[in-house]
Amino acid sequence: MKDTILIIGASGQIGTELVITLRKIYGDANVIATDILPMANEELSTGPFEVLDILDQKSLFDIVKKYNVTQVYLLAALLSATAEKNIELGWNLNMRSLSHVLDLAREKHIKKVYWPSSIAVFGPSTPSILTPQRTIMEPNTVYGISKLAGERWCEYYHEKFSVDVRSIRYPGLIGWKSAPGGGTTDYAVHIFHEALKSGQYTSFLSDDTTLPMMHMNDAIRATLEIMEAPAESIKIRSSYNVAGLSFSPKELADEIQKHIPDFKMSYESDYRQAIADSWPKSIYDSEAKTDWNWKSSFNLQELTSDMLTNIKTLVNQ
Ligand code: NAD
Ligand code: SER
Repeated sequence: MKDTILIIGASGQIGTELVITLRKIYGDANVIATDILPMANEELSTGPFEVLDILDQKSLFDIVKKYNVTQVYLLAALLSATAEKNIELGWNLNMRSLSHVLDLAREKHIKKVYWPSSIAVFGPSTPSILTPQRTIMEPNTVYGISKLAGERWCEYYHEKFSVDVRSIRYPGLIGWKSAPGGGTTDYAVHIFHEALKSGQYTSFLSDDTTLPMMHMNDAIRATLEIMEAPAESIKIRSSYNVAGLSFSPKELADEIQKHIPDFKMSYESDYRQAIADSWPKSIYDSEAKTDWNWKSSFNLQELTSDMLTNIKTLVNQ
């Protein structure tokens, strides 16, 4: 039987790109895009789109039955910065959405689940350089606490109910097709748009705040690779570390200046600085490499050049 895929939170930064890629593989009609917001992006109009609030369990069930859904990619969440401003919604959305989807799998209505975790599961007491898969995890943000709890639930549902759930701890994701949705790493997308538009950018993180990041193409490829891997090779059912590259705002600005010599960068840290300071600077991902052959492909030079070229083309269209 051919798989039918439901994407929840399809209008977001990752969802937009994932829908486009999955439709190329599974066919437009077999990838159902859903979001709490009405369709805002033309690119999602190539196949089915439904408005769905993931907190509405009955509507989720009805859509799964209507389209005979076999796989769910759950992307709806409040990200780190937004969740700090709305603790109750952050916890409720990030937890309830996951339990609704895991329960569908437990009751055998769907076969496979993808749910992303984050580097936010780590906290200030975690070793911050080449952070290993298994280490001290004491997150001090609403978002990080919800992701760590989510990881424990994924492993629990796999062990107790044989749910085939797969997950990656994404670093900050950087892509040109879609806008970021309220995270601490958003500066690393906004900076490219502002560099091209106004030639200047004020970073809300200090110049030396090094964080793990990843080009969106690598993130989408990692997502497809973990979902396509044979079940027996997915040995970690909480969530896998994956590394892309690490850089600070100053290092990114320096790289952009190689393309736009007059680009001016300034720094005004806000509440997101404390979130960033609690996260790792770099990630060690040997388990993902060994278990399902993960390998990143973008360095800072390639990422910068790709972002500037594509955003320039987009703006001139
Ligand atoms: P985003 O904020 O860009 O998109 C989330 C989408 O969910 C939005 O389109 C929003 O409208 C939708 N949504 C919100 N509430 C909803 C509800 N009640 N029902 C249905 N949809 C709802 O987020 P993203 O960056 O695409 O992230 C997707 C997932 O990946 C999240 O779980 C996030 O934690 C995780 N992640 C993202 C990054 C990153 O850098 N973007 C890094 C690590 C982990
Ligand atoms: N990029 C995400 C954020 O900043 C990390 O999960 O919230």
